[in-house]
Amino acid sequence: MPDQAESLRRLVEHIYPGPPHKARRIAFLSGKGGVGKTSIAANIALALARMGRRTILVDCDLGLANVDILFGVQPKVTLDGVITAGRDVRRALINLPSGLRLLPGASTIVPRQGVSSGRLQQILHHLDDKAEFILMDGGAGIDEGVQYVAGLSDEVVIVSAPESAAALNAYRLIKVILSRRSTTAIRLIVNRAPNESSARRIAAGLARAAREFLDTEPEYVGWIPLDPIVAQAGKERRPFVEKYPGSPPARAIVLLAQKLAQPPPAPPQAA
Ligand SMILES: Nc1ncnc2c1ncn2[C@@H]1O[C@H](COP(=O)(O)OP(=O)(O)O)[C@@H](O)[C@H]1O
Ligand SMILES: [Mg+2]
Repeated sequence: MPDQAESLRRLVEHIYPGPPHKARRIAFLSGKGGVGKTSIAANIALALARMGRRTILVDCDLGLANVDILFGVQPKVTLDGVITAGRDVRRALINLPSGLRLLPGASTIVPRQGVSSGRLQQILHHLDDKAEFILMDGGAGIDEGVQYVAGLSDEVVIVSAPESAAALNAYRLIKVILSRRSTTAIRLIVNRAPNESSARRIAAGLARAAREFLDTEPEYVGWIPLDPIVAQAGKERRPFVEKYPGSPPARAIVLLAQKLAQPPPAPPQAA
C-alpha cells in the first residue's frame, strides 16, 4: 500500500538531487514549533549581511510565514505569489538597508499542491547567482513542507529549545531527514537556554542518541540564551542584532553567523 511515508519518499526523491548550485542553502528547521527558528534565521541572516556576505533570507515556513513582521516590512509580493500565481521573483525580493535581501513568505497558507510543484527549487536556482548564502526559515515538525525544504538545502540547522519535548522532536526530525538523504549536513543550535552548560547538556544528549541509533551526530554550532529582549525586539519589529547589539543573544548570533560562514562541515558518510 503506498502509505504516506512512501509518497513522501517519492516527493523528496523527485526534488533531490537538484541541478548543481553555487549559493550555500542553509535551512533552519525544528521538530517542535515556537523554539525560535524565525528569530534565529532572521538575525543570523542580518549578521551575515553586515559581515559583507551576500545573503538572501527566504521565508519558507509554509504554515506560518512571519519573517516580514520581524523586519517591519509589508511585502506586496510574497513567495506565495511567486509559487502559485507566477509572479516575478525579482519583484518579491526586498532590499533591506543592511544589504540583506528578503524573500517574504506566504501571507496565506500555501496550498499543498503548490508546495510539491518544484517551483521553490526553480526559485532557489533563480536566486543562486544573487547570493553567497540563501537562508531558509522553515517550519516545524516532520511533515511534507518541512521535508521539502530540507530536501532543497545543503545544510540543515536544527533549532531546539532546552525542554526534553523539543529535544525529542529534534531527534525525530534528524531521523526523518537522514532517512531521506543521508548526505545532508546537520547542525544544531540550542535556543532559549538558561546557560551554556544546559545548552551543552541538551546537545550532548541529542548527539548520543543520534550516534547510537542513527550512526551520525549533528554538529553542535552553539547556543542562544533565554532573554526577554528577543520577544521585545519582535514586538518592535526590529531584529535584535540591530536593536540591541550589545545584548547576550545578539553577541551569540554574531558568533553563530561567523561559525556558519566557515566552510561547511563534511557531510556524514552515506550508509
Ligand atoms: N532566546 C530567546 N529568548 C527569549 N524568547 C525567545 C528567544 N528566542 C525566541 N523567543 C521567542 O519565542 C517565540 C517564538 O519564536 P520564533 O522565532 O517565532 O519561533 P519559531 O519560528 O520556531 O516558531 C517568539 O515570541 C520569540 O520572541
Ligand atoms: Mg517561525
